[in-house]
Amino acid sequence: MMLKYSRAATNLRELEELGCTIMHGVDAHTMIKHPLLNQKLFDRIVYNSPATALKRRESNTRQIEKHQRLVEGFLESAYDILEVIGEIHVTHKTTEPYRKWDIERLAEDAGCAWLRKLRSRKLTIQE
Ligand SMILES: C[S@@+](CC[C@H](N)C(=O)[O-])C[C@H]1O[C@@H](n2cnc3c(N)ncnc32)[C@H](O)[C@@H]1O
Repeated sequence: MMLKYSRAATNLRELEELGCTIMHGVDAHTMIKHPLLNQKLFDRIVYNSPATALKRRESNTRQIEKHQRLVEGFLESAYDILEVIGEIHVTHKTTEPYRKWDIERLAEDAGCAWLRKLRSRKLTIQE
């Protein structure tokens, strides 16, 4: 992360100063097994742009299925550590081929009640 994003260290420091706990290497599939995450329930759990390593083109069916398994695993795992009235937020592109991930169906299959879809402004990733 430090190598990829030049502002990473500054941003992490700022978050810590604001009282955030920063953890690295958390597997989105098994959050309930993490010693710091299984102590409490969360009212919001956010995963911005979930994605697995790209082995094929984004439009390849097997690549899409791999991404979907990540999102499914994350949603099921997040559900286990979520408050009863809690929210799971996922940001995701809605253009092709990303819409084929069918995130709404994955959320329903994971037992989530679909709350709403918000349109975000174009995201700029700061390098
Ligand atoms: C497209 S990047 C988005 C990164 C970051 N959330 C952001 O918005 O800049 C997708 C991230 O998901 C991570 N990832 C893939 N599989 C994961 C898993 N099982 N558990 C946790 N993170 C995973 C990848 O390492 C990568 O950092």
